Amino acid sequence: MTQAFFDMTGLRQVVHTANLIAVLTGAGISAESGVPTFRGTGGLWRNYSPEDLATPEAFARNPRLVWEWYDWRRGIIRQAQPNPGHLALAALERLTVERCGNGGSFTLITQNVDGLHERAGSQSVLKLHGDIWLVRCTGCGAVERNEEVPLRELPPRCGCGALLRPGVVWFGESLPSGEWEQACEASGHAQVMLVVGTSALVYPAAGLAQLARAAGAKLAVINPDETPLDSAADWAVRGIAGEVLPQLL
Ligand code: APR
Repeated sequence: MTQAFFDMTGLRQVVHTANLIAVLTGAGISAESGVPTFRGTGGLWRNYSPEDLATPEAFARNPRLVWEWYDWRRGIIRQAQPNPGHLALAALERLTVERCGNGGSFTLITQNVDGLHERAGSQSVLKLHGDIWLVRCTGCGAVERNEEVPLRELPPRCGCGALLRPGVVWFGESLPSGEWEQACEASGHAQVMLVVGTSALVYPAAGLAQLARAAGAKLAVINPDETPLDSAADWAVRGIAGEVLPQLL
C-alpha cells in the first residue's frame, strides 16, 4: 500500500531493523545545497540541451563549450555545502554499521557527480555517473583529480598534450562496470531501498529500484513530486530530502 502523506513510523522502524540497506540518490538531494537539478523546475535541461553538452559527440564537436559548462557547474558545486539530507544519510550509515557490524551493509548509490555525499561523511558511496572533480585524458587515458575553479585553461589539456574530458558518464556511455556490479549486488540483496531525489527516468540507474523491489526489498521514494516508481513503492513520501531524511534518525 502506498502512503501519500508521510507517517514516518513504519519506514523508520524498517530502516532501524534492516541489516541490508541500499539508497539510490539523484540531483534532488543536492537541490537544497543550491546545485541545480536536471529536469525539475529551473533544471539544467530546461535551459541547455544535453545533446550539446553531455554526449561524446558534443565534446568532439565543441570541447570548449562543454568545458565552459562544466567549469560553471564546478563553480556552483565548490560553493555548495552538504545539506541535512546528505548528513542524515551519513548518520544512518554510521548507525547501521554500529548496529549490524559485519553482518550488515549500507550502500549509497548515487547518480550525482558533486561529491557532496562524501563531504557529508558517507563512506560506502558508489558513483554511477562519475565525479565532476576527476578529469580523463582523451589521449593517454590518464585519470586525475582536478579541483581548479575556475579552470586556468579551457579546454584543459593533459601533460601528454591531448584534451582532458570531465570524469563523468555522458549519455550514450556505459557506467563504470565495478560500481555498477556492486550497485546491482547491493540492490538485489537489500531489505529496504530508499530512493531519494531522482526523477527515476534515466536508465540503467532507475532500474536498480525495480531490481530491489523484485528481490523483495521494501521501497521508499522520497520526492516532492510524483515519480514513475511511486506505484511500486511501499512509501511514497512527498517531501524534500533535507526535511524527510533527518526524521529517519
Ligand atoms: N528533495 C528531494 N527531491 C527533490 C528535491 C529535494 N529538495 N528537489 C527536487 N527533487 C526531485 C525532483 O522532483 C525530481 O524528481 O529530484 C528529482 C531530480 O530529477 P532529475 O533532475 O531528473 O535528476 P536525476 O534523476 O538525478 O537525473 C538522472 O540524468 O541528466 C542526467 O546524468 C544526469 O545523473 C543525472 C541523471
